[in-house]
Amino acid sequence: MVTRRLPAPVEAELTRAFDARLNRDDHPLTPAELQDALRSADALLPTVSDRITAATLAVEPLRTRILANYGVGFNHIDVAAAKARGVVVTNTPEVLTDDTADDAIMLMLMVARRAGEGERQVRSGAWTGWRPTHLLGTKVSGKTLGLIGLGRIGRAVARRARHGFGMRVVFHDPYPPPAEVVAELAAEPRATVEDVLREADFVSLHSPATPETRHLMNAARLALMRPTAFLINTARGDIVDEAALVAALERRHIAGAALDVYEKEPLVTPALLTMENVVLLPHLGSATQETRVAMGMRALDNLMAFFAGTAPRDRVV
Ligand code: DGY
Repeated sequence: MVTRRLPAPVEAELTRAFDARLNRDDHPLTPAELQDALRSADALLPTVSDRITAATLAVEPLRTRILANYGVGFNHIDVAAAKARGVVVTNTPEVLTDDTADDAIMLMLMVARRAGEGERQVRSGAWTGWRPTHLLGTKVSGKTLGLIGLGRIGRAVARRARHGFGMRVVFHDPYPPPAEVVAELAAEPRATVEDVLREADFVSLHSPATPETRHLMNAARLALMRPTAFLINTARGDIVDEAALVAALERRHIAGAALDVYEKEPLVTPALLTMENVVLLPHLGSATQETRVAMGMRALDNLMAFFAGTAPRDRVV
């Protein structure tokens, strides 16, 4: 059971390899529909829009033996409950690293250079022509980028920022990569998240969503950021306390924010929609034709391996 429409080449391959049930009208499945799928399909290929909770997985009889998630993040799946029920979970790492890093850089540039505001002016007919004081933004090149998390995507962002924009990169990661990787990126470790926040002109989040990282960016931490600094989030919405972010923006504790993900996705805290210094994208991190096909093929590989009786390469539980 494939829970959402996938790029045509992926659906074609899935249909060739399996008796695949597709979601022709692409509606997000209800909990009842997810449970039907778990009762009737040997495998589920879910996405971030499916909440697979312990209650969902409590279905009887449970036929599904593998959840081959389409995406690297799997916080929408209760993996402990899946494990307890003997269900294997896989994800699709690596193939979306570059696109997600590009998305973070795009958001950084958009919010610093006021690209959203400019676009809105041109489209609404409000632009009256070039003038020296029009829409002055913040210079990006040479500034300090603070990364919370230096995993695959954080490193790809660091590489772009360092080598493309001559930025200084500081980071905090409780599980830092090997010293030679850090050295190649010329990234400077900091002992705490707080140390990064105090120093950075741009703070970009690259942590997984776990109980420990929920609301990692809370009111106290937002208050540590510089009033000229910007927050960028391409990771997961609930890493940021969205109400605290609104308050920090309203009080000018930070200069702006650029978000690709939201705490109650697809709902966006209404106040954010009214703020000119906020860039809002609809979870586009991996949204290129090439990458969405690669993600599908990776999920397919995991399914093929599982049903061939070998270890799927991207098993998470
Ligand atoms: C990912 O791969 O985690 C994307 O955010 C889509 O789920």
